[in-house]
Amino acid sequence: MMKHSDCKIASMLKAQKRHISFHTPGHKRAGADVTELSYSDNLFAPTGVIAQAERDIAEILGADASFILTDGSTCGVHAMLAALLKAGCKRIAFPAFTHISVINGCQILGLSPVVIEGKRVAGVPMQPTAEEMKTALSEADALLITSPDYYGNFPPLEEAKEICAALGKPLCIDGAHGSHLHFTKFHAGRFADMWVDGAHKSLPALTQGAVVSANGRFAPLLKQAVGLFRTTSPSYPIMASVEYAVKYPRNEKIELLSRECKTAWGAYENEDWSKILIAFGDKANEAQAFLERRGVYAEFNDGNYLAFYLSPCTRVRELKKLGRLLAKLPRGNADGGEEPSAYACMTRS
Ligand SMILES: Cc1ncc(COP(=O)(O)O)c(C=O)c1O
Repeated sequence: MMKHSDCKIASMLKAQKRHISFHTPGHKRAGADVTELSYSDNLFAPTGVIAQAERDIAEILGADASFILTDGSTCGVHAMLAALLKAGCKRIAFPAFTHISVINGCQILGLSPVVIEGKRVAGVPMQPTAEEMKTALSEADALLITSPDYYGNFPPLEEAKEICAALGKPLCIDGAHGSHLHFTKFHAGRFADMWVDGAHKSLPALTQGAVVSANGRFAPLLKQAVGLFRTTSPSYPIMASVEYAVKYPRNEKIELLSRECKTAWGAYENEDWSKILIAFGDKANEAQAFLERRGVYAEFNDGNYLAFYLSPCTRVRELKKLGRLLAKLPRGNADGGEEPSAYACMTRS
């Protein structure tokens, strides 16, 4: 079992003595924010600490190859699409509520989207069914699904894997919101040929820290593809934080408490412990303002639900405080008809 204290990149940065910097970055403070020097390895062709960190990450995530990203999951999504193109896949099936990075990636690479329109239940976009994925794949060369989504819902992962395997078509998973799941049966790595773990969203990584991984024949293709989209000046603090985050231990206490809170608070029923959604209907803005006046900020307000995102670093007392405040708030009436605003800005619409 990997320990989170066993972080290769952070240890390397810590071990360096102060030195005189005649290199970038221009702040000239030779600390953790260094560039690629003789001792610090190179993200594009790693042979030292970065290579070791990426090997550890791949082992934890169940991948043949994992690549640290300092440019967010967006970079990983684009790299997966480019790897698909290298494998000859030009028509990509994905659900309508897919993140904008997928749509942009298709545009950049000249890929043809095959959109799975899907349903919405009480304002919440539903994951595609097995039947919908199968139909879309009759016109597409690969499938890219989001797991979990903003509402903590999972697509039928087992079926997606089976359908893709039966058709001999690759499965990609955008796990921008699922990097905390690698201890569980829901983790993208159990199902996909390529997937993204958005470490900065649900694990303790710095913003923009993420990982893209692959198995089988896609490992070498992804290695080539990721180089097309990465910055050539990767941030060492972000890289170190990604390694730290992936090695961060599971917090079963907060997972259990989250499940108890969801039941006690009448939250939206989902399977992802890290996403608690409370419906306030037409009182959502009022509830958001009330909470923010008391220093509590939700991830988003879609005009009905306030979404509270947790991570292994969420403290028990913070969740309890949220519970006390929620108990004071009236729940309004939801009309469920409108496209939620937060949802709209995160997707193609
Ligand atoms: C589902 C999904 N995929 C990809 C991304 C892109 O992630 P990043 O902001 O880390 O580039 C996001 C960001 O919100 C997302 O929600």
